[in-house]
Amino acid sequence: MLEGPYPRPRRLRRTPAMRRLVRETSLAPADFILPLFVTHGDTGPIPTMPGISRLDVKGCVQEAREAAALGIAGVLLFGIPTRKDAEASGAVDPHGPVAQAIAAVKEEVPGLVVITDVCLCSYTDHGHCGVLDGHTISNDATLPRLARMATMHAAAGADIVAPSGMMDRMVVAIRSGLDEGGFEDVAVLSYSAKYASAFYGPFRDAASGAPQFGNRKTYQMDPANVREALREVALDVQEGADMIMVKPALACLDVICRVRAQVPDMPLWAYNVSGEYAMVKAAAQLGLADEKSAVLEVLTSIKRAGADRIITYHAIEAASWLGA
Ligand code: PBG
Repeated sequence: MLEGPYPRPRRLRRTPAMRRLVRETSLAPADFILPLFVTHGDTGPIPTMPGISRLDVKGCVQEAREAAALGIAGVLLFGIPTRKDAEASGAVDPHGPVAQAIAAVKEEVPGLVVITDVCLCSYTDHGHCGVLDGHTISNDATLPRLARMATMHAAAGADIVAPSGMMDRMVVAIRSGLDEGGFEDVAVLSYSAKYASAFYGPFRDAASGAPQFGNRKTYQMDPANVREALREVALDVQEGADMIMVKPALACLDVICRVRAQVPDMPLWAYNVSGEYAMVKAAAQLGLADEKSAVLEVLTSIKRAGADRIITYHAIEAASWLGA
């Protein structure tokens, strides 16, 4: 039995003002990074991602402008090529949609940070994140292509390149390529711990990047593992990553928490992925959850777990709710 007055935690939850006073985690528009899909091909809504569209370069600039006006920190660009091949040649095309979108956004919305996804999967006709040797994904043959892709993005004006292909030594290959090209100032955000997740489905529709055979389990991580994530992070830090990412976010809150403890001095981001987005949208549409509360709770939980910034398709809506 406790001696003396009984503790009453509810005292600090009594009014909105009291709750605000003791709140441990807060969200701000600057916590969010908005992913954008840019193409020279068909534009328009993505059926599996309500509210998100494939954009042309002009549409991309418009979205970027809206994001900046709401206080969002940056955009993450994904390219959807009109042509795919075994070598992913579209990935290094300096006239492709990504290169043009980088230049246009930097020119028109200079205050926004421009980040690019560096991966071959939407550019390969087989849909894997690396080039093939038979039916295996060749790690080391992929590296120079990733380095060239990153350098092309840097030349177009990207501030940060974000390799997402889970190839071993991709960070050091990209860092060396950037430095040799004179792009020492361009930062690398590594998708260090990226899992073979069921929550990327809608994205693969959006970018038409589903693998044509097999799956991504020989390079993306097994969702059952967390110690392995710590090892991936340690390697990326050694290889020269400036920032670290965990992906997906909501299914990996414990991973975010463990990585945060392992690298307290590194910027740590989390990717609230397409399937996590679509799940909340679907629940809201079915009347199973209040959308605004659910979205803000999800984003708060990701920050509370230890992420500094969140890449999220909810960015525009969440930023406008927070600002309102
Ligand atoms: C490319 C890439 C993917 C995502 C981001 N970069 C797809 C994948 O790895 O299958 C998923 C993003 C999302 O689901 O929102 N490798």
